[in-house]
Amino acid sequence: MSRNPVVAVCGATGAVGREMLKILEERDFPYSEIIPMASARSIGIKIPFKDTELSVVELTEDSFDGVDLALFSAGGSTSEKFAPIAAKAGCVVVDNSSAWRMDDNCPLVVPEVNPHDLDWHKGIIANPNCSTIQMMLALKPIHDEARVKRVVVSTYQAVSGTGHKAIEELENQVRRLMSGQPVVADVYPHQIAFNCLPQIDVFMENGYTKEEMKMVNETMKIMGDKSIKVTATCVRVPVFYGHSESLNIETEEKLTADDVRALLAKFPGVTVEDYPEKKSYPMPINAAGENDTFIGRIREDETIANGINMWVVSDNIRKGAALNTIQIAETLIARDLLRVP
Ligand code: A2P
Repeated sequence: MSRNPVVAVCGATGAVGREMLKILEERDFPYSEIIPMASARSIGIKIPFKDTELSVVELTEDSFDGVDLALFSAGGSTSEKFAPIAAKAGCVVVDNSSAWRMDDNCPLVVPEVNPHDLDWHKGIIANPNCSTIQMMLALKPIHDEARVKRVVVSTYQAVSGTGHKAIEELENQVRRLMSGQPVVADVYPHQIAFNCLPQIDVFMENGYTKEEMKMVNETMKIMGDKSIKVTATCVRVPVFYGHSESLNIETEEKLTADDVRALLAKFPGVTVEDYPEKKSYPMPINAAGENDTFIGRIREDETIANGINMWVVSDNIRKGAALNTIQIAETLIARDLLRVP
């Protein structure tokens, strides 16, 4: 492409959409125009961008003429409907919803892990689930060195992953509880303030939630290896920004904790923070607003021959969503793949 792309941000008024705009600004992403799109409710809302203001327009079937790249974060049903319309109009879609992730025609990409999968895109590229993305950064260097056989993961996920209404719900519940008033739960099935909910997304027939099965299935697709076994328990916790994960990883070959620290320290997008003597380990309050995924508490599992435990924390709205989406777009541009074949 000889000129800079026209970029649409679909879902621009949401938690992830606003972060996308911030990151486009921060990273000096090349563009000739940026068009924020949302539902009819948001027409005309002004969003500050660089030294100007962008005005939100309605996302409709005719929105994509002349648009080269659309970054979607407006919910699954919006992506399901509008992503194919955009691709048909010649606009490459990077979609943050779960609508297209397991579609065989759509690559599912973490740029540090499987950028080569972008080579076969047909117009729609899927951004993985937030919990999967940060786990991929931890697993990839270990898998390349010692083959990951099985992972047991428990997540501690922030409310921002559910969107801006969930952020407000936690704020309101904390305020009401501190002033002795009863709480109202709209977004979540139970009170989230001062609580933990062992349910993220809906339950499936096998007793797991959809979120847990996303971690199982998306891992195999991103790593290009159906033999990696993942079993997950996903928990929503009263944290605003930053997902945490406890990983227990079993490998084919033996790795020491020092081996794992060295492998992770070299991997792009990862910062090892593992100084227990200084009480220094990753925490969501520190990861919020950062681009890297932070890994600490790296220990050998003393109950099996080849096992490692670790604690992985990342900003779910940045690396888990907006940043990964924009890194996919940057990789498309770098590889001259920003066109619908
Ligand atoms: P709107 O603010 O106009 O409802 P979050 O994930 O933080 O809840 O944000 C969801 C984003 O998706 C918002 O920008 C929202 O816009 C947008 N959105 C939701 N439904 C639609 C729709 N049918 N068409 C376009 N944008 C939508």
